[in-house]
Amino acid sequence: MDHFRLIDGELHAEDVPLSRIADEVGTPVYVYSRATFERHARVFRDALSGLDRPPHLAFAVKANPNLAVLRLLANEGYGADVVSGGELARALAAGMAAHDIVFSGVGKTAAELAQGLDAGIGQFNIESGEEGRELAAIAAARGVVARCALRVNPDVDAGTHDKISTGKADNKFGVPISHAPALFAELSQLPGLDLRGLAVHIGSQLSDLDPLEQAFGKLGAMLRELRGAGHTITHMDLGGGLGVPYRSGEVLPTPHAYGAMVARVTRGWDVTVMFEPGRVIAGNAGVLLTRVIRVKRGLNHPFVIVDAAMNDLARPALYGAWHDFDAVRPSGERMTGNIVGPICETGDTFATDRQTDALVAGDLAVFRTAGAYGATMASSYNSRGFVAEVMVDGADYAVVAERILPAAIADAERVPDFLTRR
Ligand code: LLP
Repeated sequence: MDHFRLIDGELHAEDVPLSRIADEVGTPVYVYSRATFERHARVFRDALSGLDRPPHLAFAVKANPNLAVLRLLANEGYGADVVSGGELARALAAGMAAHDIVFSGVGKTAAELAQGLDAGIGQFNIESGEEGRELAAIAAARGVVARCALRVNPDVDAGTHDKISTGKADNKFGVPISHAPALFAELSQLPGLDLRGLAVHIGSQLSDLDPLEQAFGKLGAMLRELRGAGHTITHMDLGGGLGVPYRSGEVLPTPHAYGAMVARVTRGWDVTVMFEPGRVIAGNAGVLLTRVIRVKRGLNHPFVIVDAAMNDLARPALYGAWHDFDAVRPSGERMTGNIVGPICETGDTFATDRQTDALVAGDLAVFRTAGAYGATMASSYNSRGFVAEVMVDGADYAVVAERILPAAIADAERVPDFLTRR
């Protein structure tokens, strides 16, 4: 459920007509709904109320790293799952408690490991023996102990897009689960580490709970094996991955069904279970508001050229992803068209042969479900800037990210003297 709906014939974000935001902030612009974010945060937490112990919830910052979004989620009691020094700094700047922050990722640099230690974060999810040894040495040199979990790769097919699948044996993530017992034994001896658990994350936009259940089952078996070998396990991190509907009418497993499955599988684990949800919290809490530049006649269907492009919302170009596209003031008439951006490559296509509201030049429209992996994946390709982001709160809104103009990006560039000397 989200708070983007038609009121008197115009699409609103909560109580704010989208035309008002377009007029005042310009387009393209990401529009987030505070009420929707809060609702999703609460629904996900409530869905996990059947667990043996209260869970630890860490929002996957990569899904939407905007400081206002992180602050909202901190207010809801969420910590953060971060994958870079930049994300770590954002989570702290937004007011998340260091001990609620989990640091994931296969390529944490020595500087990032040190940054996490100095901040006193709650947990490193280490993804290799190499990383574990390096973290232990850095921690020992500082006279501190790094709380960590070992991320295992359970070799489960998540059944999602190849580019966002992470739990198959040939994916780069985690250590092969068969290596876990020996690695756990080795790393838990290192003075700089407090190796306290296991972590898993098999992929994103999962539309079926079975692969998750398989992965969690394998993790539970490994938990028992490690305890049998005398290790103390207090935390188990089950990652993120729950998908959201992108297409009206699409039905996905609900957070409630996910929570019931997790409660069943983790019953008796006697640990704090941790989660790293991203998309399920942020996805439907945002839209990308865009204006039609012109409608160009084609051989078959017309091309609806909008002012948003693949640099603003990369998912269709990158994964062939579907985003519902709706007029802000639907007339009731429909058309079939190709929805494209202005960028000079064919990949800058949001939808082909799409049945949509009839649109003409100057009309406003939205790409829905753009709150996760939207603004955060933007680039400045074709020397376009970075679009603004706003958050709506009832009848008000605030700009939560200023538009970054192409000139500001060019300002960071230099023409060296050796090119200007003649
Ligand atoms: N934890 C880890 C270790 C992850 O790698 C991810 C996502 C998450 C949690 C959050 O997963 P979620 O709950 O959002 O599914 N750009 C792609 C998605 C990439 C996801 C990468 N990892 C897209 O637009 O679909």
